Amino acid sequence: MMNFAARISPTRFGGHALFAAEAGRDLRTTGAIAPSSPRLARALTESIARSTDTALSILEVGAGTGALSRAIAARIGPDDTLTCVERNPRLAAYLRAEIGVDPALRACAERIVIRQADIVGLPAAEKYDVIVVGLPFANFTENETRAICEALDGVLKPGGCITYFSYLGGAAVDRFSGERHRRHRRGSARALAEFRARFRQDRVKVWTNLPPAYAWTLTKPGVAQPDPHVGTGNPHTKPITA
Ligand SMILES: C[S@@+](CC[C@H](N)C(=O)[O-])C[C@H]1O[C@@H](n2cnc3c(N)ncnc32)[C@H](O)[C@@H]1O
Repeated sequence: MMNFAARISPTRFGGHALFAAEAGRDLRTTGAIAPSSPRLARALTESIARSTDTALSILEVGAGTGALSRAIAARIGPDDTLTCVERNPRLAAYLRAEIGVDPALRACAERIVIRQADIVGLPAAEKYDVIVVGLPFANFTENETRAICEALDGVLKPGGCITYFSYLGGAAVDRFSGERHRRHRRGSARALAEFRARFRQDRVKVWTNLPPAYAWTLTKPGVAQPDPHVGTGNPHTKPITA
């Protein structure tokens, strides 16, 4: 039988069709019916400084079809590395194939690693300066969210930052969803609020996304390597302006 990644090639069907198919297969973990918009991708990756003096190790979690991976690739410096973690084997295979096709990814192909894995199993010995999270937290239970948050904190260096999104209109969604989903969303929101309290927090609203979303940036206390490109705040990042 033909390999799935070869059959669903980027040129034949495109990432959007694959993403929608995977959402149809498992909406809970895929989290949306469309990939993040370019505007949301920009807001989530704007904190990555273009630095030639400090090599950043960047982790992307829940890479999907690469909407955020492309935005990261377009921003990273020549010595930076990007590790993309994606749990879904079909999406991970698609993204691997995309590295050879997409111009932004191809330009830094030798510094990108795609891992088909669950973020919760990531070894805590790995350490990253910047973590871009594309996970649909609102669909997870409180315990799942707490486990993911601990995994993220475990691999984030002091002074490093995490960006992630949360969709707007959760209360409106609650009116039309069942009690189980409402419980998950509130439990997950509680876990995330407690997690955020450990960090310096910034957020911006992004209306041009389906659905509209907040882009959050959390900066971990601690000292990172100095970066001459930035005068204040986290030396690895610059303030978001989206
Ligand atoms: C909302 S989609 C985001 C995809 C892409 N980053 C974007 O912004 O369009 C969430 C992705 O996270 C993946 N995912 C869900 N739970 C995960 C986990 N525990 N570890 C790694 N990936 C996960 C899903 O398979 C899905 O591809």
